[in-house]
Amino acid sequence: MPRVFSGIQPTGDPHIGNYFGAMKNYVRLGEEYGKNSIYCVVDLHAPTNPGAYDPNLLAGRTFEMAVANMAVGLDPAKVIFFAQSHVPEHTELAWLFTVMTPVGELERMTQYKDKAQKLESVPAGLLMYPVLMAADILLYKADTVPVGEDQTQHIELTREIARRFNHTFGETFPEPRAVYARDALRIPGVDGQGKMSKSKGETSTLGILEPFDSIWQKLRVAPTDPARVRRSDPGDPDKCLIGDYHKLFSDLPTIETVYVGCRTAGIGCVDCKKMLMEGVRRELTPVQERAAELKADPDRVRDALATGAREAREIAVPVMEEAREKAGFLKL
Ligand code: TYM
Repeated sequence: MPRVFSGIQPTGDPHIGNYFGAMKNYVRLGEEYGKNSIYCVVDLHAPTNPGAYDPNLLAGRTFEMAVANMAVGLDPAKVIFFAQSHVPEHTELAWLFTVMTPVGELERMTQYKDKAQKLESVPAGLLMYPVLMAADILLYKADTVPVGEDQTQHIELTREIARRFNHTFGETFPEPRAVYARDALRIPGVDGQGKMSKSKGETSTLGILEPFDSIWQKLRVAPTDPARVRRSDPGDPDKCLIGDYHKLFSDLPTIETVYVGCRTAGIGCVDCKKMLMEGVRRELTPVQERAAELKADPDRVRDALATGAREAREIAVPVMEEAREKAGFLKL
């Protein structure tokens, strides 16, 4: 039976890129693989982003990310769901990997290069980020990792780290592979500036728990096919991010209506955006309602995370012992 692992950073309100690109896949794989699917709010990764790290907000954001995943349908009774900092073996295994990973390999990571070039002083943790990520996955000997396309290079590095460990100390870890959500590899930002990403700020993202009037304000001004200047100009929905979003949120008849309507100038961009908004409400209303219920019952969320951390450690502790022993540490 495959073992699934994935992690998500505690950014508070996840956006629709996280939702369609990853979180819905967690739920689907969770239904299939039960306690062999392990999901983690990776709070130890969060402080590597110095601009966004605030110790006064971290715990609240971790809680909210747990709420969001449960609201989307992740059932902690069926899967293993916990916060990374509650399982200390993650950082211990990361250290074993750190000592055997060449700095050059880490400096080649594109996410590192993008983030580091914006900083005057680069924290070592930013460079080590993908090593901790490899430890997250391999600590559970997971072989299947649901992620968006932006994590591909990190998963490749994880495979390399597993290979290197196995080659040096004997067969220990599987070489995990990434699995992607079809049609949601790389959801574009609502500002039209490439991938939707929290690090680009609120203008890029549509939060799954964001109030609908705020979502509408962003959609209303979102760029559409630049060739469609006047209402009477036909447009190309394949060159329009609203067209992309329809494929995520709308039913087939609506998609057909807006695609034909756009190409024939039968509908305007505002009509098209209003139809999209209906799909957004239909998809996200139940999620927002469940999130409100969970926030009103914080002990339920805390208890779920506490149980999840215990279940995670049942797997992690023996794997860590095996790794420690193979790497030559004194066993008492
Ligand atoms: P994070 O927290 O940035 O994002 C969580 C998941 O959402 C996906 N994603 C997207 N998918 C499609 N379109 C988008 N615009 C988009 N934006 C984000 C991400 O690919 C990710 O799957 N490094 C990871 C967290 C992590 C992890 C792990 C993941 C830490 N340890 C171990 C897997 C396994 C990250 O920053 O994800």
